[in-house]
Amino acid sequence: MNKPLAGKKALVTGGARSIGAAIVKRLAADGASVAFTYVNAQSKAEELVQEIKSAGGQALAIRADSADVEALKGAVEETIQAFGGIDILVNNAGISMLKPYDQFALEEFDQMIAINLKAVFVAVQAAGPQMKQGGRVINIGSIAAESNPFLGNSLYVSTKAAVAGLTRALARDLAPQGVTVNNIQPGMIDTDMNPENGPYASAVQDAIPLGRYGKASEVASMVAYIASPEASYITGASLNVDGGGSV
Ligand SMILES: NC(=O)c1ccc[n+]([C@@H]2O[C@H](COP(=O)([O-])OP(=O)(O)OC[C@H]3O[C@@H](n4cnc5c(N)ncnc54)[C@H](OP(=O)(O)O)[C@@H]3O)[C@@H](O)[C@H]2O)c1
Repeated sequence: MNKPLAGKKALVTGGARSIGAAIVKRLAADGASVAFTYVNAQSKAEELVQEIKSAGGQALAIRADSADVEALKGAVEETIQAFGGIDILVNNAGISMLKPYDQFALEEFDQMIAINLKAVFVAVQAAGPQMKQGGRVINIGSIAAESNPFLGNSLYVSTKAAVAGLTRALARDLAPQGVTVNNIQPGMIDTDMNPENGPYASAVQDAIPLGRYGKASEVASMVAYIASPEASYITGASLNVDGGGSV
């Protein structure tokens, strides 16, 4: 079978469950050696490593909180040490918080920025200089950056809009070394963060032209495409995977 990512080395932040785990599985199935970070989901991380190794792939779980700059830089370093380099960085780890704007503590503002935005920059600073021609930085933003149907989403929307801007600027910065930087913007995807039977489901489902939540594997499909040589002329883009929810 043709494996488009054979020989590639990848790091996915927040890869033990939900969208991150789907990305880890897909990149491994496409032939990449895949390291991923986790914070709390240790048993899921261990199971995922076993699953990939049993299928003949290479995987490595690294405990690293994206809010901890040194831990995140250490995860990039550990990936490079284990696999002999890094070709694909997927900045997936993220949190969401919905609250009336006047009830957010500024500590929560700092936490959202640290995990959803600053960590993306830190990981690119650590991995970017090590990436060679054909390298890929893939950020997982959100359609909320463009279209937000929820009350109380001010901090999340701010961080994801910033990720879209950061992606455009970094695309220019990394282009001379032949590395692309793109931003994938999921819509309503069935995960622990946003279950399809959760409190927002009925309100938004009708507004999605394709009439359903997306699956984590459908986001992973876009990541796999952007990671592949097929996507060699795409950089600085924000690509929506949202069932048409933002049209
Ligand atoms: N689901 C959606 O509808 C949707 C829509 C648009 C965008 N997104 C974006 O897609 C990404 C993944 O979302 P999801 O739905 O899969 O979320 P999720 O179900 O809540 O899973 C979050 C993942 O991020 C990790 N994570 C959280 N805080 C972290 C930290 N400080 N350091 C390292 N890892 C951390 C978690 O790791 P542990 O479990 O180990 O703690 C977990 O793997 C996020 O960036 C999110 O904003 C999701």
